[in-house]
Amino acid sequence: MEEEEIVCGIVGYMGPGEASRILIEALKRLEYRGYDSAGIAIWNEGKVEVARKKGKVEELRKEIADNEKFQGNLGLAHTRWATHGVPSERNAHPHRADDVIVVHNGIIENYLELKDELRKAGQEFLSDTDTEVIPHLISSFMRKPMAFIDAIRQALTELQGSFAVGIINKKDRIMVAAKKESPLIIGVGDGEYFIASDAPAVLDRTNRFIFLEDGDMAVFKDNQLSLMDFQRKEIVRPVQTVSWTGVMAEKGGYKHFMVKEIFEQPRAISDTLIGRIREEQGEVGFEELELPDISKIRKIWMVACGTSYHACLIGKHIFEANLRIPVEIDIASEFRYRDPIMGADSMLILVSQSGETADTIAAMREGKKKGAYTLSVCNVLGSTLAREADGVVFTHAGPEIGVASTKAFTTQISVLYLLLLHMGQKLGIMDSDTVRDLISEIKKIPRKIQKILDDAHAVEELARKYMTCKDFLFIGRGVNFPTALEGALKLKEISYIHAEAYAAGEMKHGPIALIDENLPVVVVSPVDQTYQKTCSNIEEVLTRRGRVILFTDDASHDMRQKVENAITVPETIYELEPILTVVPLQLFAYYIANFLGTDVDQPRNLAKSVTVE
Ligand code: M6R
Repeated sequence: MEEEEIVCGIVGYMGPGEASRILIEALKRLEYRGYDSAGIAIWNEGKVEVARKKGKVEELRKEIADNEKFQGNLGLAHTRWATHGVPSERNAHPHRADDVIVVHNGIIENYLELKDELRKAGQEFLSDTDTEVIPHLISSFMRKPMAFIDAIRQALTELQGSFAVGIINKKDRIMVAAKKESPLIIGVGDGEYFIASDAPAVLDRTNRFIFLEDGDMAVFKDNQLSLMDFQRKEIVRPVQTVSWTGVMAEKGGYKHFMVKEIFEQPRAISDTLIGRIREEQGEVGFEELELPDISKIRKIWMVACGTSYHACLIGKHIFEANLRIPVEIDIASEFRYRDPIMGADSMLILVSQSGETADTIAAMREGKKKGAYTLSVCNVLGSTLAREADGVVFTHAGPEIGVASTKAFTTQISVLYLLLLHMGQKLGIMDSDTVRDLISEIKKIPRKIQKILDDAHAVEELARKYMTCKDFLFIGRGVNFPTALEGALKLKEISYIHAEAYAAGEMKHGPIALIDENLPVVVVSPVDQTYQKTCSNIEEVLTRRGRVILFTDDASHDMRQKVENAITVPETIYELEPILTVVPLQLFAYYIANFLGTDVDQPRNLAKSVTVE
């Protein structure tokens, strides 16, 4: 028997519209959460039709297209990303037992015990999933007999682990949603309701959402919504309006979401700055954040995963250099298990685009337990990290759909920079003149990125030249070592080309052995305090017949003549260099992947939001 853990997307609909069309569209927008199998259940006057397909949502769409059986205006759908348990039709959701149909995101930890008991009671299981115990459990309670809602409540209290579920039954026009430790929101439309793992799924139909909390249950009946806890006690949650729109979650003429999101960066950064900077007064503040007395903070921690972790590495450089407070960085999956030494004199900054990354959430909870002040930097309103941390600052990047993170990264750096100015001011380290000067530097960034984007064709040509290379080495120093890490990660993720990143000074301690005429070395090095050192590294590569691609703001230096290719980025201050240098690296990875014809927005084996360990 296989254990299954899943990161996936769930969606449900009740209203007057054609449920199958609405759900398939919504599911496509949730595909970034998983795309190895998909399924749908449509209710129609006491009948439920279920279809499940291995592969992408498009396969499911073709399966049910023009099939009259799938007409109805209530239904559930699911797209799956398996980490254990093979992607297959029988493991795809929805899962059904008798009259009960369920879609689920999360892990039921005690499913083996439950399955054993249910089997002994005569229930027959058809999949290898943990999820299938949920409809069986509900159905077994309904046979007692127990009303549908009570049977669900009873079943949910017996589940250990995490879940966001959508549940319907064959007989009644009722949909139920419930959550514990997995994301789930309710979209409130015009005479219609949605449940979804994430807002972009239904942004084309509504921008009004209820963000469910752990232990919440939502019952949709006769197009009315009631909210209650698992003990059936009524609860009230506000309906919040998000500024995201459906158009923002569409490709808008671009071939891929990733390239659209790269080109959106000037706007995303401008939006992230709006309302936070008062240049004349030399002040930075956040409407959503009231920091406690930070004069007692002796240590800052920055913790995240993947690209967000790279933003933290940049954060360490700029915070330590300017605030002179030690900053410790950790990968969330490491932090959570190493009993970090922290307490009430620590500030723990968690950076996450989705706000739903399981390891980062666990790190936040660990920090809270130890008494640290927790602050999340998130892109998604209502996400777990945004709700649970003591403080939150939002990046205003708009929905990021491409699995490879781009605009989230540059807006994260922008927020960390603003936070630095805000804290510098609060601690009395930065006066308003300093802050005014530093504000004026970040204000120039959107225009400078636009300049890089206007010259994107030069990077495209570079990508054409190097697209057949099998390995790449990326190097940089200081704030641009994380940029090199990010450039290598982008290339790996979407083009499947092996790429490694090193701090340039580390090259001589090992990686230099790799260098020959077949290894392109991407050097990220604007003119700053370590530029000459990196130039020496370039010489070392050239002496060994390595091929150097240089990303720099040095328009004049003779190094440009020596290297195989050089791309110029505009100048800025040291703290902000990565926001500019990363953009041509994002483009480089994108164009190579596009030439190679990979699935840029949904690269193999990856999911946008990793909501399990
Ligand atoms: O949503 P988060 O920022 O917490 O996600 C963290 C990582 O999973 C994410 O950055 C991942 O590395 C991206 N695929 C990078 O492009």
